[in-house]
Amino acid sequence: MNRILAKRQLAPEVTLLEVEAPRIQKRWKPGMFIIIRPLAESERIPLTIVDSSAERQSITMVIQAIGKTTKEAVALEPGDALCDLVGPLGEAATMTTGQRVVCMAGGVGVAELLPVAKAFHDAGNHVTALCGARSDSYRILDEELKAAVDELQWATDDGTFGFHGNVVQLLKSLAGPGTFTEGHVIGPIPMMKAAAEATRDWGLKLHASLNPVMIDGTGMCGGCRVTVGNEVKFACVDGPEFDAHLVDFDELTRRNRAYREMEQESLRHVCRVGLDVR
Ligand SMILES: Cc1cc2nc3c(=O)[nH]c(=O)nc-3n(C[C@H](O)[C@H](O)[C@H](O)COP(=O)(O)OP(=O)(O)OC[C@H]3O[C@@H](n4cnc5c(N)ncnc54)[C@H](O)[C@@H]3O)c2cc1C
Ligand code: FES
Repeated sequence: MNRILAKRQLAPEVTLLEVEAPRIQKRWKPGMFIIIRPLAESERIPLTIVDSSAERQSITMVIQAIGKTTKEAVALEPGDALCDLVGPLGEAATMTTGQRVVCMAGGVGVAELLPVAKAFHDAGNHVTALCGARSDSYRILDEELKAAVDELQWATDDGTFGFHGNVVQLLKSLAGPGTFTEGHVIGPIPMMKAAAEATRDWGLKLHASLNPVMIDGTGMCGGCRVTVGNEVKFACVDGPEFDAHLVDFDELTRRNRAYREMEQESLRHVCRVGLDVR
């Protein structure tokens, strides 16, 4: 169980893993996530389900190796097994039909966007995807996105491909009030916050898929607490998607920074009592 079936490097630090997961493959819907523990001594981390295959009884995830646990996950090879794999978790993304939908993502969020953008398209919406990357070599899943949506545009921070700038600047350059009726945004918090600010008066329903720190993924620990329209929500069970115009992004930023020193220390830590030995 939980065996890695395939592994592919998509961009620097970004790796696709296909994992054997017959029960999750049958039950997941776009927008849902899993929690994995790569090794027995690893922490638990949430990852979005990007795709699945009924034939191979598998699900696919795309991981940006930014810290200890994500680096442990991408160091696994086909034939290895994840220690734990729990899911599908969270609510599916909100779907509509007959709308003009803009789907926006940055960085590894592009992978997380793919199943949602495809679902909007399959449900009969006109879908424009606006995707951002640091530079041309960091763009991921271009072919898959092109096949899934009506229109795809890229923005790169250094201008090496597509629009020179970020996704929100690209959005403002080509749209305004009334251009789109529905939207979905996923990526770094500053980008989601800027997308919400830019579209506040556009008459657009914008859904943001949030990425707070998660621990148990069952609504018990409170780690993923977010404030949405002055109400307390738990992203693991009430989300991860919420009305972007009501999310308190400043609080989300503060809470995600709370463990930064410990996260940096965990990368340097060497266990002296033998727990690192496998
Ligand atoms: C619902 C959900 C779905 C997610 N899907 C994916 C996915 O498909 N692919 C993917 O690569 N990542 C995804 N993430 C983010 C991923 O869970 C974190 O990158 C991971 O937990 C970091 O663990 P780490 O031990 O490697 O790094 P840590 O040592 O914990 O952190 C390293 C750095 O990353 C920052 N960080 C930690 N957690 C998060 C987070 N949740 N969001 C943003 N920054 C964070 C820290 O502040 C720190 O600067 C998702 C998060 C959530 C909540
Ligand atoms: S992760 Fe513990 S309540 Fe959501």
